[in-house]
Amino acid sequence: MRIGFSSLSLDRSGAICVFVTEGRHLSPSAQRLDRESGGVIARALASSRFKGGAGQTLDIVAPSNMKASRILLVGLGAPKNVDALAAQKAGGTIVAALGGSGDESASVACDPIAGTAVTGGAFAANLAYGAQLRSYRFDKYRTKEKPEDKPALKDVAVMTRNEEAAKKAYAPLQKVAEGVFMTRDLVSEPANVIYPVSFAAEARKLARLGIKVEVLGPAEMKKLGMGSLLGVAQGSANEPRLVALRWDGARRARDKRPIAIVGKGVTFDTGGISIKPAANMEDMKWDMAGAGVVVGLMRALAGRKAKVNAVGICGLVENMPSGTAQRPGDVVRTMSGQTIEVINTDAEGRLVLADAMWWCQEKFKPRAMIDLATLTGAIIISLGHHHAGLFANDDRLADQLIAAGKAVDEKLWRMPLGPDYDKQVRSDIADMKNVGGRDAGSITAAQILQRFVQEGVKWAHLDIAGMAWSSKDAPLVPKGGTAFGVRLLDRLIADHYERG
Ligand code: BES
Ligand code: MN
Ligand code: ZN
Repeated sequence: MRIGFSSLSLDRSGAICVFVTEGRHLSPSAQRLDRESGGVIARALASSRFKGGAGQTLDIVAPSNMKASRILLVGLGAPKNVDALAAQKAGGTIVAALGGSGDESASVACDPIAGTAVTGGAFAANLAYGAQLRSYRFDKYRTKEKPEDKPALKDVAVMTRNEEAAKKAYAPLQKVAEGVFMTRDLVSEPANVIYPVSFAAEARKLARLGIKVEVLGPAEMKKLGMGSLLGVAQGSANEPRLVALRWDGARRARDKRPIAIVGKGVTFDTGGISIKPAANMEDMKWDMAGAGVVVGLMRALAGRKAKVNAVGICGLVENMPSGTAQRPGDVVRTMSGQTIEVINTDAEGRLVLADAMWWCQEKFKPRAMIDLATLTGAIIISLGHHHAGLFANDDRLADQLIAAGKAVDEKLWRMPLGPDYDKQVRSDIADMKNVGGRDAGSITAAQILQRFVQEGVKWAHLDIAGMAWSSKDAPLVPKGGTAFGVRLLDRLIADHYERG
């Protein structure tokens, strides 16, 4: 979707969108349209339940005395609650509301409203960002969709008195949106299209933005002793890959150590020999969402030239049953030297991350490491689809992540770690087993990961199994691949890891 900024004018064709705050208070532009149309807004309000609440819209078709095809009233709620996120959601709501209208263009009148927490160019930029985020569609495989079934909206003009400020504020947000879209594409692609080799090829394209890309194949991983990652991969005809993406945006920083983001990239998870039931197994095409977020985040950081040194690691494997697959009971040796008894081949994400995280620390000596993984079904039992699970060995990092998540509406809920849980993964014949029983399944998975965190490294683990894919539309996230984590980590880095 094309988004542009222009000055305020109500003399426009297509849909014209104006704001209403709680208690049906019309914005100045809405008041003018009401006068010019002979009171159509007042009459529409009188016969509707629209109150101007956040998320509410009211569509008034074919108003008289104007070029516009329709007036869309957009509720903002109480002015004091209108912050950057609310502006984004209003933009997303507009795109959703006009999706089925048939209008190809819309103009949004962002005139000043007294008492809002975000104003002027920042309001307009955030509105544009939300509209862009919501406009995402993955429709490349629909060859027979009729034009009248597709959303017609192609152009959104965000009208503001602060055009220049809005453009300036929107530029980096647009780069983040591009990262989000790249992640959503990777997550949405089926596993016959995105497998470790093709995923790595997509990641390589980021070299264009100044990112250094390194890709390891099985021979190199074998040399490094990554028996745990390779054990998961050995059942598949698709070779594994380990990808490192490096963005050095703060070369002159006093502390040059990077922040590292590590993603689980299981491009398809059948469960392996401990095979999953058939129902909903197709969902496991998005078991690479953690790695997908890593790629989209790196694209966002490089795109907006973030002043940070960051590395992104993707552990890419396909978990398949076959004559070469690993068996329950196999013992694998990780790069760290620790051994793992593989009780259940479906608990494969931790096996991949054990080696990916260790390699990350050995190679890049990060000052902090955050992993993202669709790691456990148990986190969905705990938190549903409203929070991702957060595990951390550092309270400050945990609090910063929680705050960043609230700011971008990608919410986290902190879960405990501790020696009592760690005992559940003791093995009779190896250093640990890969599952800890039914109780506290997400926590025991995190305990295993923690065994691969080196002394002194600040670490957080985000279990995004409940958040990577959505079956419902939300204001900024159409249903499907969400890219949960890209906006969150971009925000964490902007707030705490970038220099001035
Ligand atoms: N990829 C799954 C977790 C998952 C489940 C993600 C549902 C998204 C939706 C993971 O590899 C897995 O299979 N975990 C097992 C662990 C168990 C065998 C200890 C699980 O959660 O059942
Ligand atoms: Mn699994
Ligand atoms: Zn998995």
